[in-house]
Amino acid sequence: MFDATEIRCDFPILASEVNGKPLVYLDSGATAQKPQCVIRCIEDMYRRYNANIHRGVHRLSEEATERYEAARDTVQRFIGASAREEVIFTAGATASLNTVAYAWGERFLHNGDNIIISEMEHHSNIVPWQLVAERKGVEIRVLPFDDDGRLKVEVLDDLLDEHTRMVAVTQASNTLGTRPDLKTIIDKAHAAGALVTVDGCQGIVHGGVDVAALDCDFYAFSAHKLYGPTGVGVLYGKRDVLEQMPPFLCGGDMVDRVSFAKTTYAPLPLKFEAGTANYIDAVALGEAIKYVEHLDVQAVEKYETSLTHYAEEQLQKIEGLRVYGTTEGKCSIVSFNVEGVHHYDVGMILDKLGVAIRTGQHCAEPVMAHYGVTGMCRASIAMYNTCEEIDILCRGVERAVRMLR
Ligand code: ALA
Repeated sequence: MFDATEIRCDFPILASEVNGKPLVYLDSGATAQKPQCVIRCIEDMYRRYNANIHRGVHRLSEEATERYEAARDTVQRFIGASAREEVIFTAGATASLNTVAYAWGERFLHNGDNIIISEMEHHSNIVPWQLVAERKGVEIRVLPFDDDGRLKVEVLDDLLDEHTRMVAVTQASNTLGTRPDLKTIIDKAHAAGALVTVDGCQGIVHGGVDVAALDCDFYAFSAHKLYGPTGVGVLYGKRDVLEQMPPFLCGGDMVDRVSFAKTTYAPLPLKFEAGTANYIDAVALGEAIKYVEHLDVQAVEKYETSLTHYAEEQLQKIEGLRVYGTTEGKCSIVSFNVEGVHHYDVGMILDKLGVAIRTGQHCAEPVMAHYGVTGMCRASIAMYNTCEEIDILCRGVERAVRMLR
């Protein structure tokens, strides 16, 4: 049995109070809280191993480099990549997706091509594609979802053609919780000769990923949603594609030889890691992964799902409340609105009660447009949340509705 009470002891911030009330943190979809081992790792790195990586023959530099490269091995194992060269450290998922759109797009997109993007994407998996599409004269096609939040994978057959170069899709929607049928999407895209970029930000936290089995071409995620630090993330890419892409950011560490006559680039993965990498946080990401690996993933999944169902059941008892995204197998995200009540007002009243949820557009404006709303309340549930916290949330929403109506 999974024991959330025990897990909570690993996360110091969960013992704190907000507005004189115990913190009820239901915003892990925006950023997860950090276990003690990750916090300690960052301190330890700065206290004992801080020196610039890949740049010194001195002891500290070698130790920092070893730890950084060991973190890459940890990521490789965790996501099931075939080679460590396929794991690139970035500043986060946004940087990863921009790297793909820019560098891959630069090399492989041409006037008249098209890219398919799912309607439920986070802005980070939309806007970089729009920029490159504009530059290259590429059409953007949208793969829609239905009102339950199900991605209409069957529509892909109408959208894909011989000019489709990329399908951009999330592993789990940050607003609807939907986990699209990635395997089918990837098989269909590949059969049409297109590649697939998966935004794994929400998905990797809830059940992980095996990129080799999935056979996606690119996969992006941020450390901070996986109980790791902010400012670091990963871009996975298939080696042969990465080899063919030009660098994105340029500077130190990503070069082989530099002269005014000709510059050559470092081999993978460094070709895409220009400048001083965020090695401290990359090492801490490795620590976060080891923490997650020690847990029983299936038990965590089961626990989070049961809390999600409970939250949806209780919230739906409130008159006029609508939950957005009700697909089978969704991850632990509960977005909702109450008729006649503004989402910001609900969020602010909940904050007075110590409850942290996200309100607004969740960086997914097309999802808001789909439902014709200006924003939503979103409770995102993590393994350290409890049934009692869900009760506090529901009572808080009831109270907010009574006050606001
Ligand atoms: N992308 C993060 C979220 O969904 C910030 O809240």
